[in-house]
Amino acid sequence: MKKKIVILSGAGMSAESGIKTFRDADGLWEGHDIMEVASPIGWVKNPDLVLDFYNKRRAQLLEVEPNRGHYLVAELEKKHEVYVITQNVDDLHERSGSTNVLHLHGELFKVRSTKSDTLIYDWRKDLHLGDVDHEGNQLRPHIVWFGEEVPAIDQAIKIVQDADILIVIGTSLQVYPAAGLISYANNQIPIYYIDPKPATMYDVANAVTVIPMTAGEGMEKIISYEL
Ligand code: OAD
Repeated sequence: MKKKIVILSGAGMSAESGIKTFRDADGLWEGHDIMEVASPIGWVKNPDLVLDFYNKRRAQLLEVEPNRGHYLVAELEKKHEVYVITQNVDDLHERSGSTNVLHLHGELFKVRSTKSDTLIYDWRKDLHLGDVDHEGNQLRPHIVWFGEEVPAIDQAIKIVQDADILIVIGTSLQVYPAAGLISYANNQIPIYYIDPKPATMYDVANAVTVIPMTAGEGMEKIISYEL
């Protein structure tokens, strides 16, 4: 029977593509104070540093490819209705063929006006001070920084509330409101959690199957189940 499968992915989903996670030992924040590169205060203090940080991430994203895990998530659409809710700012779910992808924390290949949240542009090159919207206002990365609202969260909650199966992949479940999404799942539905170093899921009464593997290996396992 066709089921509504909701994927909640984090940085570990893209680790096998060569994009570093945030909180593993060699994670991105090493050497960078989070608040310097991913907060409105950091942006005001040193916009060049912030732009340089995201320019490097964007340049890297042009070089990498989706991994086996992304492709297997996309494959679930052959049999099921699949919604991907990702904390990742890369486009690897889309590139591997997933058609319903909601980005909670923004997208690297987009920039937006510093004056209007709704003036959003596709952007694949470096972004510099002096790059402006059509009204002359500076552009910034289309990323949700610490302390900023997560505009897509209400839509994400509705999707999770309706799920028949929730698959959580590669997230340390430390950043809210994203981590809190699992608590909106109906208590009766199964939750699968793929992560080589899984966090504890405190917020749920559901049956949780922890698969302590990488995204690729874990998705191979999921695909072998009769979901
Ligand atoms: P974290 O870096 O906090 O967690 C990454 C998770 O991936 C960890 O639990 C790892 O064990 C797991 N992991 C590592 N390699 C893996 C692999 N090959 N396969 C599967 N899992 C693997 O990343 P997130 O939980 O995504 O926000 O972090 C959440 C948010 O914190 C990010 O979206 C980012 C950051 O601040 C913004 O940029 C706004």
